[in-house]
Amino acid sequence: MPKHEKMHNRVIRNIVVLTGAGISADSGIQTFRGADGLWCGHRVQDVATPEAFRADPHLVHEFYNMRRKQLLEPAIRPNSAHVALADLERNWPGEYLLVTQNIDDLHDRAGSKNLIHMHGELLRIFCTKCGQKSDCRTDIGTQHSCENCAAPATLRPDIVWFGEMPYRMDDIYDALSACDLFVSIGTSGNVYPAAGFVSHAVMSGAYAVELNLEPSLTSGAFHEHIAGRAAETVPAFVKTLLER
Ligand code: APR
Repeated sequence: MPKHEKMHNRVIRNIVVLTGAGISADSGIQTFRGADGLWCGHRVQDVATPEAFRADPHLVHEFYNMRRKQLLEPAIRPNSAHVALADLERNWPGEYLLVTQNIDDLHDRAGSKNLIHMHGELLRIFCTKCGQKSDCRTDIGTQHSCENCAAPATLRPDIVWFGEMPYRMDDIYDALSACDLFVSIGTSGNVYPAAGFVSHAVMSGAYAVELNLEPSLTSGAFHEHIAGRAAETVPAFVKTLLER
């Protein structure tokens, strides 16, 4: 397939969109890989691995409690990119799946429905003993017991940590295999399996477009790049799709 083939020459019925931290940056949520290389001030291995949780549950709970509190601040709201994707889903006549690596709920709040949180959700917890999942909008810690099985100190954030399997991979690969357009928004391409989605989609015949502030590590796999802030580029891109 020739590179830079114009999207308007393609028949597009099924769309898969992948989003990363860049789409929520315009809502005021810090991305993961800032210039200092730290993850919200912490080394990834200290807060986002099962080993870290076993070694220091207090630190890991505190890290996610802080992020949960930030997410629930009134100033943090979906931006025009989240809204545009919900609009695309409502108005697109073909299949549409949104896969997000983000653990915030801004896509949900914007109205996206066919949405997979492949790395889990900040506002959900689960019990490591009985597996019960529940909503969580407050701080949690080792002092809390599971409401279902009453086991003490077994609750953890429903976050897919490094070394754990992301959620619903079968559904995601099925959609990637069947999509005509793959769109990646605001992700640096550092973390697999999400970073490999573009190759899978392109090998299955999809046209691939990257919308990002800067080229990602997987930029070379895309047919087209749109540079800029998601809050500006995504609504414009969605408009061109819906006007096709
Ligand atoms: N608009 C568009 N893109 C932006 C914006 C913006 N306003 N601001 C930043 N970006 C881009 C950055 O240039 C960068 O390429 O978004 C990307 C964010 O990259 P990361 O911080 O690495 O976030 P992400 O790719 O989502 O991380 C993937 O890594 O730590 C894990 O599980 C965590 O889901 C996360 C995964």
